[in-house]
Amino acid sequence: MNDKVAIITSGGDAAGMNPAVKSAAEHALRLGMKPYVVEWGLRGLIEGWIHEATQARLSGILHRGGTVLGSSRSKRFFELKHREIAHANLQKKGINKLIVIGGDGSFSALNQFYSDFGVPFAGIPATIDNDIPGTDYCLGVDTALNMIRQSVDSIRDTASSFSRAFVIETMGRHCGYLAMTSALATGAEICLVPEIPYDLDAIAERMRREKELGRTYLLGVVAEGTGMGESLTRWMGDALGMDARLTVLGHVQRGGSPTVYDRIMAFKFAVAAVEELANGGTNQVITFKDGTFGNSSISKIADTTHRVDQHLIQLCEGLSR
Ligand code: F6P
Repeated sequence: MNDKVAIITSGGDAAGMNPAVKSAAEHALRLGMKPYVVEWGLRGLIEGWIHEATQARLSGILHRGGTVLGSSRSKRFFELKHREIAHANLQKKGINKLIVIGGDGSFSALNQFYSDFGVPFAGIPATIDNDIPGTDYCLGVDTALNMIRQSVDSIRDTASSFSRAFVIETMGRHCGYLAMTSALATGAEICLVPEIPYDLDAIAERMRREKELGRTYLLGVVAEGTGMGESLTRWMGDALGMDARLTVLGHVQRGGSPTVYDRIMAFKFAVAAVEELANGGTNQVITFKDGTFGNSSISKIADTTHRVDQHLIQLCEGLSR
C-alpha cells in the first residue's frame, strides 16, 4: 500500500487531540501508510505547513492538552482558489488521504474538499461541546467536565463560607450537555440550558423552602447558549435576596491534560479512522454510539439535528423549575 495520509486538527482545540494524532500516525505506519501532520489546521493546508510525522514530532505529546499541531478556523478554506492551493500542496507530497480531528464545521470543509478533488478523509469528532449528531462522545468532553467539576467544587467552598449564591457559566455553544452533566456531578441547585424550559417562579419557591430548611448558599450552572448568566445572577439578588456572584469559566474548560478516558477514546477513534481509510472509506466521520464504534456520512450528520441524551435531560429537569 502506498497511501500517504495527513493528519489535521481543526476548529476549537480539545483535550485528546494529541493522543489521537499520535495514535493515528502510529496505526497508519503499522498498516504501511506514510503519515504526515499539518500544522495550524486548514490554514496550514493552504500555507503548505505539512511535515512527515516523525518520531520526534510524535514523542512527548500524549499527555498535553490542546493540540501541539495548532488549529485554526480558516475562512479562506471556504474559497475554491484557496482549496486549489491546498490540493496542490498535498499533491506535491503525494498525500492522497486525510484524517481531520475536529467538529462538524471542519468535517463540512473537508467534505467540500472531497467534492472538489476527491481526496478521501475520515473525521474524528473532537469538541468539548459534545454536539456532533450521530455520536454520543466527542474527544475533549471528559477532560472539560473534570475541569468544570474542579472549578465548581472550589466555588462551593467559597459560596458556603460566605453564604452566597453563585452562577457558573459553562461553554457548549448552543448545547447544554456540559452544563447539565456538571450541574448533576457537582450537586448544583439550579441548571439552565437551551434544551429545558425553565420556570424562575418555581425555582424561587423551591429555594425559599430550602432556605427555611437551613440552606445558606446555592449554586446555579448555566449553559452559555441560554445567555442567562448575568440576568440569573441579578435575579438571585433581587428575587432571593442573596449576595450573588457570576463566574464565567470560559476557555479554562478547553485546556488541561487529557483524562485517561479521553486518551483511550482518542486511541480507539484514531485506529477506527485509519482502518476506515485503509478499507477504502471516503468521507466518513467515526462515531461512538451506544457503546459501539461505527461511521456516518457527512450528509447524514449535516441532515441530523443533534439531541442530548433524554435521560440526562430528565435528570436535570428538576433543576430548571
Ligand atoms: O466549540 C468549542 C467552543 O469552546 C464553544 O464551547 C465556545 O462557544 C467556542 O468554542 C468559543 O470559541 P473561541 O475559542 O473561538 O472563542
